[in-house]
Amino acid sequence: MPSFGDFVHTQFVLKIPKPTASFASKTVIVTGANGGLGKEIVKHIIQLGASKVIFGCRSQARGDTAKRETETLLKVDPGVIEVWEVDLESPTSIRSFVERVNNLPRLDVLINNAGLRSFNFGIVYDTERTLAVNNIGTFLLALQLIPKLKETARKFQTTPHMTIVASALYDAAKYPENPGEDIFSWYKDKSRVAPFPQYNLSKLLQIYTAIKLSAVVDPLDVTELNPIVINSVDPCFCKTGLSGEMTGRPKTFFKIFEFLAARTAEEGARLVVQAASAGREMHGLYLRAGNVQAYAPIAQDEEKAAHVWNVLRQRLEKLQPGILQNLQ
Ligand SMILES: NC(=O)c1ccc[n+]([C@@H]2O[C@H](COP(=O)([O-])OP(=O)(O)OC[C@H]3O[C@@H](n4cnc5c(N)ncnc54)[C@H](OP(=O)(O)O)[C@@H]3O)[C@@H](O)[C@H]2O)c1
Repeated sequence: MPSFGDFVHTQFVLKIPKPTASFASKTVIVTGANGGLGKEIVKHIIQLGASKVIFGCRSQARGDTAKRETETLLKVDPGVIEVWEVDLESPTSIRSFVERVNNLPRLDVLINNAGLRSFNFGIVYDTERTLAVNNIGTFLLALQLIPKLKETARKFQTTPHMTIVASALYDAAKYPENPGEDIFSWYKDKSRVAPFPQYNLSKLLQIYTAIKLSAVVDPLDVTELNPIVINSVDPCFCKTGLSGEMTGRPKTFFKIFEFLAARTAEEGARLVVQAASAGREMHGLYLRAGNVQAYAPIAQDEEKAAHVWNVLRQRLEKLQPGILQNLQ
């Protein structure tokens, strides 16, 4: 977990510059673009000249509303924004989304932003819902889009990006002592789940996956001419809808804390856009407060990381046979 000093610096002192890298001629997908950070990320990317920005939203109606608002606010040319439905809790929905993406001429940037901190226990993909969305659904989509990113790299001699919106809270995660053969199955037991620890754990599992994924897909010493960049970023603590399922007194306390300490989603979005346009030297790395931050010891635990990577891969292959070929 960030130290108190680090938290104060990031939330109150740090000056976060507006991103300046050009997105001209690029096609960008941002999941969860209808609200919170996603809605601000797309605004920056449009202002930076992207040709096409696809809002990946689980609700077409909420996506359309965000599109209308953004178009009016920024006077966006027709055809730049498209809203495509994708529900990370549904393999069928993800499959249809991927098929549409594969028909695009190019995909330059995928920002895996959609995420959940569930306060209502539920089982999806044979695991608890927060892990289901933040880990299984997120990477079920991401792995299926790697070929399109790589094709774009080759065809347009460019460096596509896949950025995962992670969280500094990964470092506060409590990884279970002995999660058995499958950590995702371990959390089907409601008595083992509490919303905040579960969210932190999901963010740790994202970090494990991002590290492994970037080591397999175009590692830094790759000889391929047009590799892609995979990285993760902490957008700092921002006022968004992430704790929308919270109720009662905890919600009151959280809202006060948020009022006192959270940055705007627009500021957090700047950090995400910076990561999604960073140089190839940022491949496999984690950015916080605008800089590369070394992984905390828990993220470097090879045994835990290997367990998560193995179990996740098996689950993804079962949900979408052949998906692991995209890692070769
Ligand atoms: N806010 C922070 O302080 C903070 C800090 C660190 C990291 N993050 C990360 O930032 C990312 C964005 O979160 P946020 O803070 O902007 O929260 P948010 O306002 O709740 O936005 C989350 C977005 O994800 C979408 N989403 C949730 N479940 C989905 C699903 N099954 N399929 C498709 N989309 C789904 C939501 O769609 P609906 O509108 O339909 O619910 C919404 O658009 C998350 O990954 C979060 O973990 C946030």
